[in-house]
Amino acid sequence: MRKNKELVVCSLGLFKNQCTLEVLARIKTCDIVFSDIRGDEILRFLEKISARVKVISGNCKLEKTAQKVVSAFKEFDKICYFTYGNPMFLDATTICLKKEALKAGIKTTVLNAISSFDAIISLLELTEFSDSGIRVVNTISCNKSIVFTPEMDTLFFMIGILNLKGNEKYKKNFIKKLMAVYPKTAEFFIVDVKSVVRDNDTLIKVNVCDLAKSFKLFNERTTLFLPAIGVKNKSER
Ligand SMILES: C[S@@+](CC[C@H](N)C(=O)[O-])C[C@H]1O[C@@H](n2cnc3c(N)ncnc32)[C@H](O)[C@@H]1O
Repeated sequence: MRKNKELVVCSLGLFKNQCTLEVLARIKTCDIVFSDIRGDEILRFLEKISARVKVISGNCKLEKTAQKVVSAFKEFDKICYFTYGNPMFLDATTICLKKEALKAGIKTTVLNAISSFDAIISLLELTEFSDSGIRVVNTISCNKSIVFTPEMDTLFFMIGILNLKGNEKYKKNFIKKLMAVYPKTAEFFIVDVKSVVRDNDTLIKVNVCDLAKSFKLFNERTTLFLPAIGVKNKSER
């Protein structure tokens, strides 16, 4: 490992006021900050802490982003990659960055930050889970073989990808399989917690029979919560 070089992957949390003192202090020690968060507010925030800030284009592929960041070690010793949520929670960019840095003999430090998972747990008051526990699903990785476990509380992350062009058959399959195992009257929740792009929490309760119609409400930040059936709903917990 090259002792004088370090990649620091850290985050805002979900919005500016959640940025930790640890993160602020570490950014100040870095020569440059790359960020994948777009918007003037965050850019201005970062520019107050660091003299050099570069926003990465949303269209840039993961591998290209990682190569771009690591190639900047030719010029700089300490580089910060600033992102959203917990950099280790369902974040392929962090893994890609770590791999690329390792290839170049550079160590990566990842700092903890508030995740959408934390905020969802608070918003849904999930202080206790169903008897079979809680299941956290990455919708992307199980697209082809989606499995439902109605006996467990379940959070479907990345559900918004089912609305993307090319994923129509996975969306159809998701709706069909879910409706086969949950009663029509069962309820699920569409969750979009307060974040850098919205000032309030959104929690929409929908009946399973209205699942197909509700897809138009899903975006890239939507998480779906399906409470275990046969146990009390959140409002009755
Ligand atoms: C690529 S993952 C990144 C998660 C991020 N590392 C974190 O800790 O929140 C994106 C997924 O996280 C969830 N997510 C992100 N922001 C959210 C929000 N504001 N409200 C609810 N879920 C959110 C959604 O399921 C979304 O599809």
